[in-house]
This record gives sequence, C-alpha cells and structure tokens, in this order.
Amino acid sequence: MHYSEELIEEIRTRNNIVDVVAGYVRLQKRGSNHWGLCPFHNEKSPSFSVSDSKQMYYCFGCGAGGNVYTFLMNYERMSFPEAVKALADRAGVQLPQEEDSAEARQRENRRARLLEVNREAAKFFYYQLRSPRGAVGYQYLQKRELSDETIHRFGLGYAGKNGSELVQYLRGKGFEDELIKEVGLASHSERSGLTSQFWNRVMFPIQDINHRVIGFGGRVMGDGTPKYLNSPETPVFDKRRNLYGLNFARTARCGNMILCEGYMDVIAMHQAGFTQAVASLGTAFTPEQANLLRRYTENVLLAYDSDGAGVKAALRGIGILREAGLVGKVIDMRPYKDPDEFMKALGREAFQERIDQAENSFFFEVRILEGQFDMSDPEAKTRFHREIAKKLCQFSEDVERDNYLQAIADKYLIGVENLRKLVNSYAAQTGLERPVERPRSGIHPKNDPEESAKKAQRLLMTWLTDEPALYGKIKKYILPEDFTEEIYRRVAERLFRELEEGNFQPAGIISMFEDEEEQREVAALFHTSLPQLDTPQEREKAFHDILLSVKKNSYEYYTGKLGTDVNALKQAVEGRKALEELAKTHISLD
Ligand code: GTP
Ligand code: MN
Repeated sequence: MHYSEELIEEIRTRNNIVDVVAGYVRLQKRGSNHWGLCPFHNEKSPSFSVSDSKQMYYCFGCGAGGNVYTFLMNYERMSFPEAVKALADRAGVQLPQEEDSAEARQRENRRARLLEVNREAAKFFYYQLRSPRGAVGYQYLQKRELSDETIHRFGLGYAGKNGSELVQYLRGKGFEDELIKEVGLASHSERSGLTSQFWNRVMFPIQDINHRVIGFGGRVMGDGTPKYLNSPETPVFDKRRNLYGLNFARTARCGNMILCEGYMDVIAMHQAGFTQAVASLGTAFTPEQANLLRRYTENVLLAYDSDGAGVKAALRGIGILREAGLVGKVIDMRPYKDPDEFMKALGREAFQERIDQAENSFFFEVRILEGQFDMSDPEAKTRFHREIAKKLCQFSEDVERDNYLQAIADKYLIGVENLRKLVNSYAAQTGLERPVERPRSGIHPKNDPEESAKKAQRLLMTWLTDEPALYGKIKKYILPEDFTEEIYRRVAERLFRELEEGNFQPAGIISMFEDEEEQREVAALFHTSLPQLDTPQEREKAFHDILLSVKKNSYEYYTGKLGTDVNALKQAVEGRKALEELAKTHISLD
C-alpha cells in the first residue's frame, strides 16, 4: 500500500515519539532530552536520548537513531508500511482502504511485492518440508543434527522435485509470472513453461534485519553441484549489504559478532547458543557488511574454515575489518574444518574456550606468513623478519606499533632493537601508513580531512536544527550544495526549504529515506555533539568557525572538480565570494 507523504507526516506528528518510546524504554527527563538505557545495544549507563522538540531518538553509544517510524521498524522489526499502520491505529487515524483493482495493485510498491512473493515462497517451502514428499529434506536436516526448534526458527524448507508446484502456488496467491521471475524464484523454458529455480533442495530463506525474506539459498542433499544455489541479486536482495543470521544476531548483545563462512555454520552456532553468528551471502565478505557489523559491535571474531581457502578468506576479511576500524580476531577451529563440525565434535563449552582464546588478527597474519618461510634457512628467516617489519609499519600510532613490535619480537625470538631498526628503515623508505579512520560518532577520535569536513557539516546541521532561527542569518552564505556528502545535501535541500517556509520538521526528513542505514545516518546528522561553551563570544566564534569550515571545504571540493563538472565553476566562483565575505562578517547568535 502506498501512502502519501502528507499522510505519513500526519501520522508521525500525531504520535509523540517520547510517549511511543516510553512504552518500551524507561525514560528520564534530563535537560531538554529524555534519557534511558539503549534498547539497541548493551549498556549500563544511559546514552540513549529521545528529543521532544526534534521528535527523534539517538543513541550516543551505538549511533542508533531515527524518528518514530524508525524506532518501531528497529524495535518491533516492522516494515515501514507496518509501522505506518501501527502508528495510525495508535493515533486513531483512518488509513485509506486498499482497493482491489488492478490499477491499485500497480501502484503498490514494487519492492513490497517482491518481498511478499519471497515470503509466500518461504511458506511454501516450509510446508513442503513437513509434507510426506518433503521427508527427504527433513531427514537430511535431522542427519545434520538440527532440532525442530532450529528448523522452525530459521524457517528452513524444502523445494520439491516438481518444479511447477511452486509456480502454481504463487500464481494462486495472485503473483504475476513476471514478479516471480524478477525475484529469481522461477525461470521460463520452452518445454515446461515457468518452473522453479530450486529443485529437490533444502531451502534456507535469507532474511534482512527486519526478518523479511529477501532471497534464498538452496542446498543439494548430497554431493551434487552446485552445492548451494543462491537467489540472484534482485531489487530486494543486495548480497553486499546483508548478512545471514543478522536478524537474530543483532539482539544477541554479547560484545562481539562471529563471522562464519556458511549458512550451516551460522545455524549450528545459533543452535548451540552462539546467537551472535552471521555469514556472508555466498560471496566474499564486503566492506558494506563490515559497516553493518560496526553498528552492533567493535569486535568481530572470524570463524572461517581451517583449510587453505578459509585461511585466505580470513586474511582478506581481516583487512576489511581493519579498514572499517573494527577489531578482528580469528577463532582456531583445528582439527575441525568449520564451526558446524567443531560444534558436533566438541560442543559449546569447547567452542567458548576457542572464542576466549581467539587470536589477535595481526598475530594470525604473522603466523600464516611464517608458514611461507623455511626458518632453518637464515636467508629465508631474514626475509621473514623483513616482512614482519613491513607489516608493523601499518600501525600509524607509535604506542600501538611498539606494543606489537615487542610482542612479536618476544614471540619469534627476534631482538627488539634489531626489529625496531628494521621497522624504522622501512618507515623511512615508505612512510608509515595513514591511520584508518571511519566515522562512528563519539567512539573513535577523528583527524583526517575528509572526516573533519563531514563533521563540520554535521555540526552545522545539528546547530541549525537546535536553533532554526539562525537560518535566516546564514542563508546568504550557505547553500545545500555546500554539503558535499550526497545524503547530507539531500537533507539540506529539504531542511532549508522547510526553514524558508517556516514549517520545519527534522523528524519528517528521516522518512524521506527508506533504508534504515540512511535513516540512521540522517538522525546522526541532527545529533552531533555541539561544543559546550560558556560565553556567547565563544559560541559565536565556534559557530563562525563551523560555517567557515563548511564553506571552505565546499570551495575546495568544487575547485577540485573544475573541468569535470559543469556546475563546478559557478560553485567555486560564488563559493569564493561567499567565503571572503563570511570571513569578514560577524554573525550574532542572539
Ligand atoms: P555445508 O557443507 O552444508 O555444511 O555448508 P556450509 O554452510 O558449511 O557452507 P560452505 O562452507 O561449504 O560454503 C560457504 C558458503 O558459500 C555457503 O553458505 C554458500 O553461501 C556458499 N556456497 C557454497 N557452495 C556454493 C556453490 O556451489 N555455489 C554458490 N553460489 N555458493 C556456494
Ligand atoms: Mn559446513
């Protein structure tokens, strides 16, 4: 069902976020905000804030944030239309009735339809597994030692040998062939018409964090190939941005996440009580997935296969985690191949021990490196030490590098001073690597230029939402284009327009974005911690500095685009003028 933007806004404004959240979280008023323990991560002192004036929530600990819709989507795991419905009910707003005409159906959101097909297909597979013909699938899962409860929890199913049954079933539910094809469940052949892609396989529905079925993995029950058949990428199935098991793992809150290779590994781990396990979706682990994990934890444990391919994948994974600013460790599964086998053989206590003993990712890398050199050969050994020194240069912080240097020197019986000399000579040749810094509000200090430019943009946005009256004083100098981050710019366009019209609704702006990740980013934009300053002079100076910094960044950004972007020249010329004028102008905050 498609609701108009006006209706969505009306429902939102009729549901005060403070009241809604108070139904779930104990809140206490402190200053202009209400505070409580964040329901989205584990904490002992409140960093979760709900603002009456902004009609938003934001956690200064984990960065969860959004408006009243986002809250329900996250907390109750509702889809956006479900959240709209729930809040309409709550406020007694009548929603337009769904008309059962072809025309009305066309208007329906395509994505929602694709998700519905998937949900129905998952149901179909689920019931098939429990039917007499699905017994082979059920037996297979039993042989893999999955309990009924686990099979139910993960919604496992079975795709039968008759490829047209699924299609019949979905058609019977009113889904068009084209939709069934688009979601990757069936394909057309001359001989048999539209038939299921999945044939005689046990089915793993892949869910997003809101428990919506976005795709499927199907496994052969034996040694056939391909072992797993996965749904193709579709408008609802983005393999780079989802993780198998995250819908459960996100609420595990045990201080870490465990990244596995396979669906079966995740399921075996959850069954054993390690509900923080996730896996990538039949493709290699991606930076987008690392960012996803960073919403929940800083500590990621890799539980990859112990074979050569697994080690290679782990080395790659470590790099991605490090880039994302996460702390990676590696769980040693030997002598077993993967978590599933390990769990079956040794059980949960033994696995917990392996978690506790997980190896620091740098040590892991060095240990793997060691395997490539013959330590009885002085020449090879020297090369090994050089490689270590080179690797140590990746730590840009002196203290950290030195801690690793000492630990490694101890472990591999290398003279500390010799190793230090080696490191210094490499550093002199190639320079130390720049620190890897990624935004995560309040947790990592930031100092790279790109991040500080973004920070200034966030500060300005937060300041303007806190004191909307300032807009009139600065609109001469600042344009939406000065927000060089795409998402920030879209927010600025809408925000400035609303400020201009005197109808300013920051929480409504969040509903512009469908993606939870984006909603969260927008909420963060309105919740940057402003400098705590005592005197009006200090505040004015700080505000002026922020303005200048945003403007300067924008000027540099467009200057850098001269020659490649037709608008850049105009932006740069005008930006320069505004910048010069701004530098001379005093802006009072009263
Ligand atoms: P089991 O062998 O049933 O225990 O599976 P597993 O969960 O241990 O998976 P495995 O480690 O063999 O593979 C890891 C992941 O890679 C799987 O979960 C799939 O997502 C993916 N994968 C495995 N085999 C194939 C394949 O043949 N084709 C594709 N596209 N993906 C595969
Ligand atoms: Mn396996």
